Amino acid sequence: MRRTLIAGNWKMNGNLAANSSLLSELLAAPIDSENEVLVCVPSLYISQCASVLAKTSIGYGAQDVSAHQSGAYTGEVSSAMLADFSCQYVIVGHSERRAYHHESNDLVAQKALQALRSNICPIVCVGETLEQREAGKTNEVVITQLRAVMDVLDDGALARIVVAYEPVWAIGTGKTATPAMAQEVHAVLRLTLAERSVFASDKVRILYGGSMKPDNAKELLAMPDIDGGLIGGASLKSGDFLAIINAA
Ligand code: G3P
Repeated sequence: MRRTLIAGNWKMNGNLAANSSLLSELLAAPIDSENEVLVCVPSLYISQCASVLAKTSIGYGAQDVSAHQSGAYTGEVSSAMLADFSCQYVIVGHSERRAYHHESNDLVAQKALQALRSNICPIVCVGETLEQREAGKTNEVVITQLRAVMDVLDDGALARIVVAYEPVWAIGTGKTATPAMAQEVHAVLRLTLAERSVFASDKVRILYGGSMKPDNAKELLAMPDIDGGLIGGASLKSGDFLAIINAA
């Protein structure tokens, strides 16, 4: 049985005061310990999370990591640096980084590998654009994105990742994939993992991301291959984020 993971992706939002209020509201609320809860924050706020969330049931992580171990990569943050602040997770290959920073499948794969080398769990994002979906290429796109990561990991490492299916056309748009649409792609991703390792395909949690909200979370999370959510906008409001967590 896979433990449900509800991860918030704050994206480039927040400030010290607002973060402190949001985290305090989350910590004060009763959260079903069966579900794992995580916030992925801008790098500058990881130290704030490290002090506020240490020894609590809420985990924290980053939104990106360098594909390199260390060296002349100005502005980048290494997995070892994230581990210095006890980061447990890092998002890699988010569609916004693939689009705005031209991150290739191979670069995303190297980022995932670097994270694992520092014992940080990569949340590997895959997803198709509206154009690709309308062209019937959804499965081809997400399988190619996932296989690039599979190609650089051995079976043991593969079993340690988390995958997030985020249809690009659903991110920040309020247009959510229906539970059936999401389940169909999640099942394809799980089959792709099983081609390599049945153990990994059974262990790896596949999250849905893309306008998951309090009013649609329960139906999405009820799908057999949806093991949680990667939440953008709704993670910035404690009431909405808690409603999604408690819908799981
Ligand atoms: O990484 C999660 C994010 O892309 C989803 O954003 O605002 O549609 O929940 P949102």
